[in-house]
Amino acid sequence: MTHPKYQSVLIKVSGEMLGGAEGTGVNPDTLRRFATEIKAVRGLGVRTSVVIGGGNIFRGIRGAAEGMDRASADYMGMLATVINGIALQDALERVECETRLLTAIGMSEICEPYIRRRAIRHQDKGRVVIFVAGTGNPYFTTDTAAALRAAEIGAEVILKATKVDGIYDKDPCKHDDAVRFDRITHLDALARGLKVMDATALSLCMDNQLPIVVFDLNVEGNIARAVRGEPIGTVVAPR
Ligand code: GTP
Repeated sequence: MTHPKYQSVLIKVSGEMLGGAEGTGVNPDTLRRFATEIKAVRGLGVRTSVVIGGGNIFRGIRGAAEGMDRASADYMGMLATVINGIALQDALERVECETRLLTAIGMSEICEPYIRRRAIRHQDKGRVVIFVAGTGNPYFTTDTAAALRAAEIGAEVILKATKVDGIYDKDPCKHDDAVRFDRITHLDALARGLKVMDATALSLCMDNQLPIVVFDLNVEGNIARAVRGEPIGTVVAPR
């Protein structure tokens, strides 16, 4: 097997992906497949952590758009990520992959508090670390949590696992002539307003020279391909 390109990765999985084809709830088959793929990456000797979204259960921004107080809606969204994290931890341990679940919002009966040095220590011991509850603050997305945690623990790359196979110059669902980028800079993505991540997350990655690989998680084996550096999506990099 080809050597991994990265020795330390943070995988950002959108909550919607856990919902399988429907995009809602938690689909056990999908969860099992993700767990198997994440374990395979860990098996390559790569330090692996995961930030998980909560959109399959509740999306803060949508709640706010429907009239809810934004902070309350975001707290609901953060709690949704905890539910997904527990499900992913269970799935990973079923395939015998050791994990630790760390939360940004205190709930010590359920999972460990996020402590940076502890997260690093867990990784030293070969555990897959799952970060939940976003950054613990409203008005921030789980993409921003991914950028923040990746910078904090020294991950070399964010692997953004989504339902599309990269970043396009316009919405490929609406435009037949949409062109996919193989590579783009953070600055260019920001300037063009491309929906890679929200601007806060993208800026944080740019400031910390943190590359992002955007790829389609629906294709089996893609997480390992991304780790090996195969050209399967779009790379957002400083240059
Ligand atoms: P090392 O001792 O460094 O190897 O790490 P460890 O995680 O095995 O040790 P620890 O005694 O901290 O944790 C044992 C188990 O308890 C692990 O499954 C942890 O995830 C869990 N755990 C640790 N702290 C907390 C906490 O504050 N709340 C909850 N719910 N679980 C915790």
